[in-house]
Amino acid sequence: MKRGAILVAGGAGYIGSHVCKALATHGYLPVTLDDLSSGHARAVQWGPLVQADIADADAVARTVRAHDVVGALHFAAKSLVGESVREPLKYFRENVGKGVAFLEALQTAGVANILFSSTAAVYGDPAQPRPIREDDATRPINPYGASKLAFEEALRGATRASGGRCGILRYFNAAGADSDGDLGEDHDPETHLIPLIVRASRGDTPPLTVYGQDYDTRDGTPIRDYVHVEDLASAHILVLKQLFNGRTDIVLNAGAGQGVTVREVLRAAEDCLERPVPAVVGARRDGDPPVLVADTGGLEALGWKPQKSLHDMIRSAAAWREKTSPRIAS
Ligand SMILES: NC(=O)c1ccc[n+]([C@@H]2O[C@H](COP(=O)([O-])OP(=O)(O)OC[C@H]3O[C@@H](n4cnc5c(N)ncnc54)[C@H](O)[C@@H]3O)[C@@H](O)[C@H]2O)c1
Repeated sequence: MKRGAILVAGGAGYIGSHVCKALATHGYLPVTLDDLSSGHARAVQWGPLVQADIADADAVARTVRAHDVVGALHFAAKSLVGESVREPLKYFRENVGKGVAFLEALQTAGVANILFSSTAAVYGDPAQPRPIREDDATRPINPYGASKLAFEEALRGATRASGGRCGILRYFNAAGADSDGDLGEDHDPETHLIPLIVRASRGDTPPLTVYGQDYDTRDGTPIRDYVHVEDLASAHILVLKQLFNGRTDIVLNAGAGQGVTVREVLRAAEDCLERPVPAVVGARRDGDPPVLVADTGGLEALGWKPQKSLHDMIRSAAAWREKTSPRIAS
């Protein structure tokens, strides 16, 4: 069944490309708008690619008209926490300034349904080490989180004023790759734990650095909540359908609802890849909270449940690395 075209800003990136595949599977036409600053043209496989900046209002208007776009997903952002501390204005310009220009262009073009990729970084360093709820305090501790929160506010305010519909998914740690091997995670630089583990285990990189093992957690390393990118993709389809059914101002956490330590991820990787993961212990990084785990009750109330395990994330990430960068047998 054909359901209409969805404009996907950042559809050539890691999460956006997996969501494009899910959109196509559900009968939508994903139309990617991406400047390819961190994404890849080869990841755009299920619909057209318009190579443009999200702040290019003419490109947005043309694309909406050409494809009769009925909704927009907004993944396009800069998302390196360390870089945001060094270059805060870049993050406010890219994630807020350009985001607002994109929003204005969408509103002018009459696109009323908008779903935004936010982040657990909006919560900052939670006071309680319990799963975080969406109505918990949002106190970002770095410019990246602050810029994502500022755009959330802009989107919610603009949607209220215009009578449109908006949804916000606050991702925890996305991981894994497409189960058919069509897509995966290709960041440069890569800062995410599971692809870094895969690379270190293959000898592609020096040993992995574990940033701090003196946290007040069960083994001293930070606890995070990893969610498979295909489970994240299905959450987008669900929330998009809610918007089309008239719901608005949806703000939901997207994690697996389970916390694992860095050491536990390392052990799981050694277990399922059946090879050692060389690692050294380094100093804590500024602004790394000890525990970040999602309360996922909101998404689950809509009928969503993560289907994939941590092992699935590691195996699919390793399979993707092997496919795109085969190891020479020694
Ligand atoms: N990966 C995670 O674990 C994670 C966690 C929390 C939140 N997020 C958020 O999810 C979104 C997607 O993350 P990702 O890991 O897929 O990132 P990514 O870098 O792989 O994808 C972002 C895409 O947006 C494009 N882009 C960036 N700026 C643009 C601009 N001005 N105009 C047009 N295109 C632009 C890039 O080329 C890229 O294809 C981001 O908004 C990020 O903040 C990601």
